Amino acid sequence: MERTFLMVKPDGVQRNLIGEIVSRFEDKGYQMVGGKLMNISEELAQQHYGEHKERPFFGELVDFITSGPVFAMVWEGENVISTARLMMGATNPKESAPGTIRGDFAVTVSKNIIHGSDSPESASREINLFFKEEELVTYDKSVNSWIN
Ligand code: TYD
Ligand code: MG
Repeated sequence: MERTFLMVKPDGVQRNLIGEIVSRFEDKGYQMVGGKLMNISEELAQQHYGEHKERPFFGELVDFITSGPVFAMVWEGENVISTARLMMGATNPKESAPGTIRGDFAVTVSKNIIHGSDSPESASREINLFFKEEELVTYDKSVNSWIN
């Protein structure tokens, strides 16, 4: 079953949006297999966002993501990587559609509430960066028989 890494960023935690965001993915039919409230170190932030290290916003991005606790999660389900990206909405909330998480809750690109892996390769890289194998829980929910 496909897995992705999702994270409520510090702005989402401060705005009490963890529950709302978890609900959206639960309601859709996905299953959380790992989750924790944590502070991101400077080193982890630089690794996580390594692909952006030459970009002009990199310093600000690292400062923001380390500015307060995040809620890191692993979610599982059919097509979860790309569907979660659709549910998040466009990176820049100026362009993210109403009904998406960023479209509904965010105004500016630098504080856009949620991170989600953009490919199978980044999902596996990011899951391994944030979670140990024993922190991920595989389990059956009877509700899934109505979805899959
Ligand atoms: P990116 O990976 O392009 O977006 P996404 O989060 O949708 O995968 O960029 C990572 C984060 O960097 C993005 O969520 C917010 C921040 N960012 C800026 O602050 N300014 C920018 O111009 C861009 C493109 C991103
Ligand atoms: Mg990205």
